[in-house]
Amino acid sequence: MLDFLAGKGHVTDTESPSVEVADDPTTPDPMSTAPGEEIEATEAPSPSPARPLPRWIAVANQKGGVGKTTTAVNLGACLADLGFRVLIIDLDPQGNASTGLGINIRGLEASTYEVIMDDTPIEDAIEATSIKGLFVVPASLDLAGAEIELVPAFSRELKLRNALAEVRDDYDFVFIDCPPSLGLLTVNALAAANEVLVPIQCEYYALEGLGQLSKNVDLVRRGLNPALEISTIVLVMYDARTNLSDQVAQEVRGHFGDRVCRTMVPRTVRLSEAPSFGQPIIAFDSRSRGALAYRELAKEISHGSA
Ligand SMILES: Nc1ncnc2c1ncn2[C@@H]1O[C@H](COP(=O)(O)OP(=O)(O)O)[C@@H](O)[C@H]1O
Ligand SMILES: [Mg+2]
Repeated sequence: MLDFLAGKGHVTDTESPSVEVADDPTTPDPMSTAPGEEIEATEAPSPSPARPLPRWIAVANQKGGVGKTTTAVNLGACLADLGFRVLIIDLDPQGNASTGLGINIRGLEASTYEVIMDDTPIEDAIEATSIKGLFVVPASLDLAGAEIELVPAFSRELKLRNALAEVRDDYDFVFIDCPPSLGLLTVNALAAANEVLVPIQCEYYALEGLGQLSKNVDLVRRGLNPALEISTIVLVMYDARTNLSDQVAQEVRGHFGDRVCRTMVPRTVRLSEAPSFGQPIIAFDSRSRGALAYRELAKEISHGSA
């Protein structure tokens, strides 16, 4: 279905079949905002039905710098603020989700690495954060080695799923922040989750690689995890001043329909500053546009409060 995406990064390509799909009258109009107008989070509820809790969501896109960690941290924080219990699993050796939540990843006794590689109980690795109801299993740099060390391991694709079984009913939302690759760590995330959330940057080449991600999701669904689906697409780094952002948004909505959240996250400096203070945006600057957008996104994805 998504073969158009493979190797096709240029989203403005008018030959793209998406142009026809985008004309589908059932597709919600993505753009009611005039160019140059400030984009704010929309309030309309998502057309997709509410999903039962707990929800296990891998945040994946094999490109780096597309907003996976920012979305996992801030969406997680906003859901916790709505009253849900939320756990973020940092599965990226860079540990950005951990540091962005104020965890010092240098002095950890237990991290995702020990949970996956040494059978350390996950409870020993869970850390509280400054947001009530939001917890994190931090990553350390050791995790970079896991990608190789897992290769000969017994049931190497199911290490994370097995480790997480202990806390399966303890959280309403679990977000697994994936590394920027489709290697064994990401396969572990896809095997453990029921849903995949893909952040897509409103930029050139935004769709590049999504065909590959889709294929991997299909492979994992067939081989390991029949429940898995790409349930949620979030448009991030939206810039209302550029036609390009609109074009990308339209193209993505044409292809993914109501799986694309109506709320788009604007490109704002405050969102990029918050991690260096170890805070989600709602703690760092709760009235900023970024905070508003992630709050709306949390409402849209959860269909209201806990
Ligand atoms: N909406 C946004 N506006 C501005 N900067 C953003 C936004 N989302 C993410 N960033 C910044 O872009 C960079 C990449 O985002 P990140 O979430 O770390 O991506 P990934 O986890 O996919 O590698 C980070 O420096 C982050 O602070
Ligand atoms: Mg990241």
